[in-house]
Amino acid sequence: MAEQMVKFMVNGRSYEIPIEPHMTLVEVLRDKLDITGTKLSCGAGECGACTVLIDGKPALSCLTLAMTAREKSILTIEGLAEGGNLHPIQKAFIEHGAIQCGFCTPGMILATKALLDENPNPNREEVKKALAGNLCRCTGYVKIVDAVLAAAEEMGKGGS
Ligand code: FES
Ligand code: FES
Repeated sequence: MAEQMVKFMVNGRSYEIPIEPHMTLVEVLRDKLDITGTKLSCGAGECGACTVLIDGKPALSCLTLAMTAREKSILTIEGLAEGGNLHPIQKAFIEHGAIQCGFCTPGMILATKALLDENPNPNREEVKKALAGNLCRCTGYVKIVDAVLAAAEEMGKGGS
């Protein structure tokens, strides 16, 4: 099918590129823009590894047609650190051992960002609920939830 020019922002940078209508957002990010922090795992909406934020809301980029991101603002894991400093959520994941193979981590961290933007002080159950769509084969989840709670506390002290 014919490509169409689509304009959107990724991590604060504007792109205008030709996209075939069937291409998913994760394909465009990884294969056309070489922004490979977003992971493609199940490709079927079941694992959350491909989670990005579109206009601040979590979205499964394996199920999102790239065309639908037209004129929108996309945040991937590459856009989270600022000025060479890791985001407090990234730091908390490292400090709490919430990363093992790391394949789920970009999606987990972006789902966490969406949660904390909306609810800066979640309890353990709210964290579990917010991350229920993000699967991790390695950590057993306890450390991930601990990391999210620690990040919330740190950010509540005036971090970003
Ligand atoms: S790769 Fe998108 S939900 Fe699994
Ligand atoms: S750290 Fe390996 S899947 Fe989560």
